[in-house]
Amino acid sequence: MKEVTFKSLAIRSDAEGLFLLDQRALPDDEIWIQIKTIDDMVEAIAELKTRGAPMIGVAALAALALGIEQDLSTEQLLEASSKLRQSRPTAVNLMNALDRFNTALQSGQSRPQLQQLIRDFIQEDFDLCDHMAGHGAALVKTGERLLTHCNTGSLATVGVGTALGVIRKAHQQDKDIHVYVDETRPLLQGGRLTTYELGKEQIPHTLIADNMAGFLMAQGKIDRIFVGADRIAINGDFANKIGTYTVAVLAKHHNIPFYVVAPYTTIDQDCASGSEIPIEERKPQEVRGFVSQKQPVRWAPESVDVYNPAFDVVPAELVTGWITEKGVFELSDVNNGILKGS
Ligand code: MRU
Repeated sequence: MKEVTFKSLAIRSDAEGLFLLDQRALPDDEIWIQIKTIDDMVEAIAELKTRGAPMIGVAALAALALGIEQDLSTEQLLEASSKLRQSRPTAVNLMNALDRFNTALQSGQSRPQLQQLIRDFIQEDFDLCDHMAGHGAALVKTGERLLTHCNTGSLATVGVGTALGVIRKAHQQDKDIHVYVDETRPLLQGGRLTTYELGKEQIPHTLIADNMAGFLMAQGKIDRIFVGADRIAINGDFANKIGTYTVAVLAKHHNIPFYVVAPYTTIDQDCASGSEIPIEERKPQEVRGFVSQKQPVRWAPESVDVYNPAFDVVPAELVTGWITEKGVFELSDVNNGILKGS
């Protein structure tokens, strides 16, 4: 694409076209796949070739930039936008990004104006990460051992990330941190992706299976927890990768500060509480074994009944603080409506 060019760890757009780093092949293989049509992007988001709440908003708008370059009509762009909206249900960044685009399109903005909107959106995602990282890192004390879940870094945004951005910033500030990484069953975003990013940045880390987090907390090995979010309700409840709720309950029991880090684009202004958040359910094969391009493995019976919710909901009362681009907020701020209209 010529008019909307950018490059980050997991997505790039230049004169050669629009490309995604296939996150299913990480950490071993860095394979860039070209996105040539809207349908390619819908499939890439649904199949988690690209993923992470802010990133799928960016990816959807990048696909629409491609549509503009391919001279799609207004009707075709609206249809493309509605297809992209269906690609994943939980991360509201996708819907918020598409709403922004649709409003501009329907108000008659020109093609160059729409392209500018997309460029601004991508730059904004980058900047939001920096602001959150600064606010969050200020909480971290020297020598702390941090726990995180899923992947919330540069693979999940176009910037330094949300929770992982905070962690990266704390490391850059020489705080001598150590990161425990939940592997994050069933798709192993922690084991495959967060370790990949932490390794690249040379941030000291240790991988644990998800069911070990409680024991580490009991052993006094975790000082602070940072996670991301896919959708935050106005009352502070939030959805994040399955297993986050368990971590939050354990943190409460062990009196360990538990923070959610997300930009305003992750807040759903129409969602009053967590019970209204749609939760994606995925294929049974992901739980019967490990779905991998290279070497799929199955360990459970092929026909066993499976329940596979991709996200869970953390109630606001389990959260120590909400870190957004505007600062760090407590439950009293949230109860006073700080997330409303932000
Ligand atoms: O299914 P995924 O990998 O898209 O889930 C990602 C998460 O749950 C992240 O924690 C969340 O999107 C925040 S990313 C900055």
